Amino acid sequence: MSIRDKIVDGIISRLPYRLIEIDGDAYLLRFFPFRKTVRPPYDRSKWPAVYLHKFLRPDRDRELHSHPNKWSFSIILKGSYTEERRRGNEVFTRRVRLFNFLGLQDFHRIDELHGDVWTLFFVGPKVSSWGFWDRDTNEVTPHHDYLNQRRRLQ
Ligand SMILES: [Fe+2]
Repeated sequence: MSIRDKIVDGIISRLPYRLIEIDGDAYLLRFFPFRKTVRPPYDRSKWPAVYLHKFLRPDRDRELHSHPNKWSFSIILKGSYTEERRRGNEVFTRRVRLFNFLGLQDFHRIDELHGDVWTLFFVGPKVSSWGFWDRDTNEVTPHHDYLNQRRRLQ
């Protein structure tokens, strides 16, 4: 391990973080670069925020999701990922290596991780809820209903 990697690891190991799970399934580690502790509410909603993310797996759902924030912007620090994006009623696939921007109307899913994926994730104010778009039926289901439907099917 290089000196640079040791320094970066040292900084990261001192940051507060929490594990983000989806239905008990570990999804990513969210580090808080500008907070001393992590205590509820974990994620401020009215204000823009910045997090350091380490992805643990891709998105498992076949549906593409929108984010609840007015905007989201990622700088890819390490690794890369393959993303599915909605364009009209079509889905296209692309490799994200440097930056990613999501507006309120954008739908995506992370299809595959390449290497250890670390991102610096900036979010604007939370103004909506997550939505899930079904590419076959063209329907968008709000987060809460989507999770309930999925639990019923399991
Ligand atoms: Fe996302």
